[in-house]
Amino acid sequence: MKKVLAYTIPVLLCLAVGAISSYIQTPALRSWYPTLAKSPLTPPDIVFPIVWTILYIMIGISIGRLIVVGDMSIVRLWIFQLLVNFLWSIGFFALRSPILGLITILILDVLVFAYTLSAFSSDKIAGWLFVPYMLWLLFATYLTGYVYLNNRPNTTLRAANVTNTTITMHHNHYDMPALPYPADALEPIISKEAIDYHYGKHLRGYVDNLNRLIVGTPYEGMAIDDVVKNTNGALFNNAAQVVNHDLFFNCMTPYMTEISPRLQRAIVRDFGSFEQFKKEFTAAATTLFGSGWVWLVEDKEGKLSIVTTPNADTPLLQELNPLLVLDVWEHAYYIDYRTSTTATAAPTLSVNGGILSIGKRWTRD
Ligand SMILES: [Fe+2]
Repeated sequence: MKKVLAYTIPVLLCLAVGAISSYIQTPALRSWYPTLAKSPLTPPDIVFPIVWTILYIMIGISIGRLIVVGDMSIVRLWIFQLLVNFLWSIGFFALRSPILGLITILILDVLVFAYTLSAFSSDKIAGWLFVPYMLWLLFATYLTGYVYLNNRPNTTLRAANVTNTTITMHHNHYDMPALPYPADALEPIISKEAIDYHYGKHLRGYVDNLNRLIVGTPYEGMAIDDVVKNTNGALFNNAAQVVNHDLFFNCMTPYMTEISPRLQRAIVRDFGSFEQFKKEFTAAATTLFGSGWVWLVEDKEGKLSIVTTPNADTPLLQELNPLLVLDVWEHAYYIDYRTSTTATAAPTLSVNGGILSIGKRWTRD
């Protein structure tokens, strides 16, 4: 009976620590951990509970064997390492501190190494039962170190030069901005026909109008952002529409992309959660009256907010840094929603499934 208890009590203790740790980790695993920059060697989330359960059983059996052979001197070290193991969960996940996590896991490495060496001298099997744990901890140390080194606080999201558009000029004529993917790449969310009209007809119309209207004005030959900032009327409308569309088409991608950890953190900080941001962004888009744009912007203090602008207006005029934009002009969706009785259907695709990413030229990561 004593023999059975010598094995079962440590195993159950380990599993209890594992269960409490995973309970403590849950909120961070949902909202904080996914926003971290992680090593490419990081296994899928499902791997961790499986590996830890196996390891906890092994290290429980290890101390059970030593208790059975009467080596009680090592029990204290075993309990201590389990306690530090628990503290690592608290430091890294509950307190969301990679540096605390790194310090704790380094201490744990030393304790586990000491235990393993000591266990080998009493009972080889007890020692071997700790080796996978030791190796896994070394791997976890690398993963924690990577997280610490790659998620240190940074400067704001503000772009180095938000006026640096991708629109080039030849002989004082603005070039048509390139579509960064084939016209059918966003199907089935946005059809090729919709892109052909939106990009090929409407945006081309703005570029052609701009090139026609600017001839003979003092703005001829000026960078397009300066035209936007210094004009009004038809010239402003067409120049701003070119800039807005250039960002808009660059905000979309046919590939699932991950938002940078820094932007994720800023979104969680200023909106509460990414889900809440999506909700507010979609609400802003679907309630915008008439033609316009919905933007995720960053102000000079680095705070994010959602703003809407009517017609061709752009937050660049308010010295806000645009990070994401959605076109809520009817021409953006009338092709795909031509049978819809409401004009609010299309904007809901804004952040649907990750089709919108963040415009590369506006963010520095
Ligand atoms: Fe548009």
